[in-house]
Amino acid sequence: MADKLIIFDTTLRDGEQSPGASMTREEKLRIARQLERLRVDVIEAGFAASSNGDFEAVRAIASAIRDSTVCSLARANDRDIARAAEALKGAGHARIHTFIATSPLHMEKKLRMSPDQVLEQARLSVRYARKLCDDVEFSPEDGYRSEPDFLCRVLEAVIQEGATTINIPDTVGYAVPELYGSFIAMLRERVPNSGKAVWSVHCHNDLGMAVANSLAGVKIGGARQIECTINGLGERAGNCSLEEVVMAVKTRRDYFGLDLGIDTTQIVPASRMVSQTTGFVVQPNKAVVGANAFAHASGIHQDGVLKARDTYEIMRAEDVGWSANKIVLGKLSGRNAFKQRLQELGIELESESDINAAFARFKDLADRKSEIFDEDIIALVGDESVTHQQEHFRLLGLRQQSETGERPHARVSFTVGDTEHQAESDGNGPVDASLKAIESRVNSGAELLLYSVNAITTGSTESQGEVTVRLQLGGRIVNGVGADPDIVVASAKAYLAALNKLHQNTERVAAQG
Ligand code: KIV
Ligand code: ZN
Repeated sequence: MADKLIIFDTTLRDGEQSPGASMTREEKLRIARQLERLRVDVIEAGFAASSNGDFEAVRAIASAIRDSTVCSLARANDRDIARAAEALKGAGHARIHTFIATSPLHMEKKLRMSPDQVLEQARLSVRYARKLCDDVEFSPEDGYRSEPDFLCRVLEAVIQEGATTINIPDTVGYAVPELYGSFIAMLRERVPNSGKAVWSVHCHNDLGMAVANSLAGVKIGGARQIECTINGLGERAGNCSLEEVVMAVKTRRDYFGLDLGIDTTQIVPASRMVSQTTGFVVQPNKAVVGANAFAHASGIHQDGVLKARDTYEIMRAEDVGWSANKIVLGKLSGRNAFKQRLQELGIELESESDINAAFARFKDLADRKSEIFDEDIIALVGDESVTHQQEHFRLLGLRQQSETGERPHARVSFTVGDTEHQAESDGNGPVDASLKAIESRVNSGAELLLYSVNAITTGSTESQGEVTVRLQLGGRIVNGVGADPDIVVASAKAYLAALNKLHQNTERVAAQG
């Protein structure tokens, strides 16, 4: 029987550390449910001690998820570990993931601790974590740049204390495949009790090699867990991308010889959900989940695929969850049909009143757009008015005027708390005028870092526009996403959604801080 490769998803922890990708508790819960449908083995739900918001998110995910193990990150100290254990109390299967840096640079400059102190703290932390939880993972942060003799001593000690998984992070994305794979192999060979733990890889993508390094860690090093994120979301250049490693191991089973528990048909829905929630757009040529990943443009390729699909395709689009834009509902569809489609898409709204709010939004959309696709429904349930996220700012209406040769003008009405406001402004274009109108009343002072607009469904100007707005204020970066057939309205929604996130002001400690 082939070994099983454990897929540890850290979209909600390491992915969320990406500037602007922070998510609310409800958003995290929705993604966690999708990860469970995807059948990932472990969901790293957050870093419970980093903020009250993260604690609550881990707690909510632990009580909602039954099939996947739910994990919380914790620095190697008693307070963090106790907080993680507390947040995980309701979990069916819980894991505490504790870490401390072991590279000379991190120990000296960041921790200001001697190697012996680090070793002792690692040992005591794992000992304490094991008192609270049977499943304990240990990571030597910046492990790949650590001194091998010292690293072996630390790993031997934590396995002795009961660590069940040993994860070797390439925290700064410095590794290259062959060397990283051999590094894991060397550690497994030299640590005397290495056989008592599952070995895991965790690679960042700074040199674009996170997937290749992770696969080398498995093939050359013998690791049996990969840590990854949906769409490769993560700090700087991101983490190892789940869809790519999973499809590599599945498509090249002849080479890797490993089994996976993943339901790959849930990959594209998961990718869309993460992209729509965070506003991090997936590049069209991204492997597996990019819009062009299965599109054959050249005549020779099209001809080949029509004659025999495997001339140019090594995977089937439907196996990773691509369905051609399917018209699912229209103006005349009733509440039951809508509810059933939500179920088919695996979308669970919390209450009947949430379903009613979503249905009202759907009816509103169907009045303006004749064909409603799955993608529209997914975008619609991300809308704040449906999910009851903190809606301090809410769009009521927008009127804008633009004419060739004239300066565009916009009038926007919106609520701030319970008070209704109207604001007007000119601008270079209707979007500029609308955002300036909002800002003239709100005076947030936030700096606009990014504005992007995408069509939710491809191939038609009837599509809804999905706008992402990234704002920075006082060192915080947030993304707001808004969807509407009118891209000026979508822009105003996205701007207000970003202001709502700034308003929530959830401070958290960074894991690599
Ligand atoms: O990249 C890293 O080192 C991490 C650890 C906290 C596991 O994310
Ligand atoms: Zn990381």
